Amino acid sequence: MKALILAGGAGSRLRPLTHTSAKQLVPVANKPILFYGLEAMADAGVVEVGIIVGDTRAEVMAAVGDGSTWGLRVTYIRQDEPLGLAHCVLIARDFLGDDDFVMYLGDNLLEAGLIEFVTAFEAERGRLEGAPAALILLRKVDDPRQFGVAELDAAGNITRLVEKPVDPPSDLALVGVYFFDVRVHDAVRAIAPSARGELEITDAIQWLIDQGQQVTARELHGWWIDTGKKDPLLEANRLLLERLVPRTEGTVDETSSVEGRVVIEPGASIVRSTVRGPAIIGAGTRVTDSFVGPFTAIGARCEITGSEVEHSVVLEGSRIVHAGRIVDSLLGREVEVVRTQGRRGATSLTLGDHSQVDLT
Ligand code: TTP
Repeated sequence: MKALILAGGAGSRLRPLTHTSAKQLVPVANKPILFYGLEAMADAGVVEVGIIVGDTRAEVMAAVGDGSTWGLRVTYIRQDEPLGLAHCVLIARDFLGDDDFVMYLGDNLLEAGLIEFVTAFEAERGRLEGAPAALILLRKVDDPRQFGVAELDAAGNITRLVEKPVDPPSDLALVGVYFFDVRVHDAVRAIAPSARGELEITDAIQWLIDQGQQVTARELHGWWIDTGKKDPLLEANRLLLERLVPRTEGTVDETSSVEGRVVIEPGASIVRSTVRGPAIIGAGTRVTDSFVGPFTAIGARCEITGSEVEHSVVLEGSRIVHAGRIVDSLLGREVEVVRTQGRRGATSLTLGDHSQVDLT
């Protein structure tokens, strides 16, 4: 089985904060979102990975390289314009050949791995006849009206898909993971662009169903975040930090305490401070006379001195010095929050585009 990972599309709304225009590269728990997908592929035994890249291809290619870090063989497929998820399949035909593949949206994060689903699809494919043309992952959601929604028959096969329905036929939303066999290529060639001018994967799947092909579904358990939809950083961070395997590769002096699920990356130092997990302290970061955690990711090469930081994401190279208590905050790269001896009661700010400050 091959994989097709979609990392083209529109740029990130968080660009001023993260310095990456690829939304798939926004770091969560100190790691780009896309890397979690690549790890899931490697864990599921998929090696041949095609990555759809658009305007942000230079950044994606620089970050992922040839994929050998994960034991993958990566082929980049260039999409000049984001013409839809089914368009990605259309232009990946040479890479995919006649092989089965898993299609994965590069801005999604799933708690569950993919092994169970890869195994299920492969097992079904082993049947001599009547193997399903596609397997779609579904997840129960509170408000299906913002998603693609599936209607199932009693046997668990999909009978109908509707995009963002006013009156949803079920509460089962399409998660950004789809398994297809060669028949999907006929589907993506047969459909026409939707009202928004995109070749929709839901239309391609509906085409398969209308042709009498079997499309099966499996329900995903555990959390799923479409980071393209939600403000991803704090929520995704919170969920992923809870999955950290604690390790201390930096130094912690004897007057400091590190409690719970905490990762201290190489070269980081904790001095006269408390770090309460779940939290991650990036490589080379110095935490002195401070409290950090819970649910906090501090990037590499930061300085936290005489401050408290909770439920926050701080990207590389930032300094928080005698800043009091900082909560529920996102700080981009090379940000400085420093208390000086200047005028009392006055705040001096240098904020980038789209910044937001809540003063209490
Ligand atoms: P989204 O633009 O989030 O696609 P969607 O159809 O799920 O969004 P919505 O219905 O909410 O408007 O893109 C999902 C992923 O696929 C993201 O990583 C960008 C990538 N992508 C491409 O690579 N090429 C495309 O043409 C499109 C539309 C998306």
